[in-house]
Parts: sequence; C-alpha cells; structure tokens
Amino acid sequence: MPVYEHTMKQLVDGDKNNLQQKMSGSNKYEFKKICEKLESQYHIKPAHLMGLGTSCIVYQYGSEQVIKVCAKKIKYFHDRKQRLASDLQKTVEPMAPYLLPIVKIIYDGDEFFAYIQDRCNPLPKRKNITTQNLCDILHIIQVMFANDVIVGQMKPKNVGLWKGHLVLFDYHSMHQLYDRIKDTNDWCHSLEESLLTYERLYPHKVGLQSLIDHISTIKNPHDTVEVIKHIEKIREGLRNEPRGGNYVPWRSPKHRQ
Ligand SMILES: Nc1ncnc2c1ncn2[C@@H]1O[C@H](COP(=O)(O)OP(=O)(O)O)[C@@H](O)[C@H]1O
Ligand SMILES: [Mg+2]
Repeated sequence: MPVYEHTMKQLVDGDKNNLQQKMSGSNKYEFKKICEKLESQYHIKPAHLMGLGTSCIVYQYGSEQVIKVCAKKIKYFHDRKQRLASDLQKTVEPMAPYLLPIVKIIYDGDEFFAYIQDRCNPLPKRKNITTQNLCDILHIIQVMFANDVIVGQMKPKNVGLWKGHLVLFDYHSMHQLYDRIKDTNDWCHSLEESLLTYERLYPHKVGLQSLIDHISTIKNPHDTVEVIKHIEKIREGLRNEPRGGNYVPWRSPKHRQ
C-alpha cells in the first residue's frame, strides 16, 4: 500500500480526527503529493510511520533521524502574515540543542511543511524522572525565556532524550512570550501543568509551586531575567544535592554535532 493510503488508514483506525481533518483539509492533494515525494526521494515506506501527533505525522528516516510532515495550522503561525517554515527554523536555531533543531526543510507549501529532525527517545509518560531530567527541563525553560518565547506544552510526550539530555522536540505551539502575556491572562496555564507533571514524576520534594507563582507575575523583560535567576537557583540546589548523583552539565554549544 502506498504511504499516503497507509497513513490515512492509520489516522482513521487510530481515531485521530483532528489530525485527519488537517491532513485531508482544504488542500487534500497536497498531503498526498508530499507522501509521494517522501516515497520517491527519501525512500519512506509505510512501515516507517512512527508517530501521529495533533498537528504532525512522523516517519522514521534512517536510524538517526525522522521526517515530520506538519500542518501549518499550528500556534506558531497563528498571527504571522507569512507562514514560512524557514521562520520557524530560524526562531529555533539559537535555542539548539535544548530545542531540537530543524536539520533541513524538505517541503514548504500552502497547508503543510515537512522537515528532517534528529531522532530522540520521547520520555515515558508515567516513569519517575531523575535529577538530571528535571535540571534539563528547567534549563529548556530558561533558554526559551532568554529568547523571549514560550512553549507551554512541555509535557513528557514532547520532550525526549538526545545525546544523554532531555530536549524539546515539539515546538509547534510556540508563542512570542510578551505577545502571549498581552493576549491572555491564562498565558502560563499549560506551562504550569507541565511543571506540575514533572514535580509529580520527581521522587523528591522540590517545591516548583513558588517558581510557577513567580513565572505568573512576568510582565516585562526585567521580570523574565529574575525568573531565569530563580530557575538557576533551583538547578544549583538540585545539582548540589547528594541525590543529584552523577549530574552531567551540557558541554559547550559544540555538543550540537
Ligand atoms: N524527533 C523525534 N524523535 C522521536 N520521536 C518523535 C520526534 N518528533 C516527534 N516524534 C513522535 O511523534 C509524535 C508527534 O510529533 P510532535 O512533534 O509531538 O507533533 P505534534 O505537534 O503533532 O504533537 C511525538 O509525540 C513523538 O512520539
Ligand atoms: Mg506533540
């Protein structure tokens, strides 16, 4: 069965209604065309299908990479005049590897874009996390805040182990931080939920509620700097605990390769 037919069947069988609507939406031939390109140029076969998200379909590409076909109906493009995949790539680049970068854009069309990303191991949903995992999560938030962006959806399904550290591989719901704060009172709700999830999965007491309370007071860049410092203190505390075990910090930015 061709990749397109197989993928559409998996969407129906898996009750992925939202994703199915996106993939067969207003320009239903576009997704088919992309699948044909994946087959002919990237040798993708139906068996390579590995993930169905809420806006994106993921295929295994060799042993180290994935190809992600993503709908343009994502938050990142919401208020943008132009919906260019290269804008997302450029936005994310300075935050690599904490945000796992787009290695290459292989398609950029009206309703969809497709890109190559390194493959990582998504964090299990319910398994306890280590001190290192928690430090990595907090580090990702620091890096995003330092770049004036926010991805609220930082739950385990969107972060994975890559070269020994946790990275955020799904940033389709990224907002500019201050636009988001201006737009809605509820701006840090999903980040709060994500942090509370990690607090539950961490077997020791860490007290992230005070950090959540601090984050919710952000109004301007000065506040953000204070929050970044607050996170640094928590990370320092975690690293210095005996149970921090063999915490390994990221090396210099060269670890990208
Ligand atoms: N780089 C990756 N490595 C391994 N699995 C991935 C990768 N990117 C995505 N996936 C898998 O595909 C699913 C959907 O991708 P994701 O980027 O989260 O898109 P969505 O915006 O649709 O949630 C993920 O939950 C994960 O299981
Ligand atoms: Mg996701």
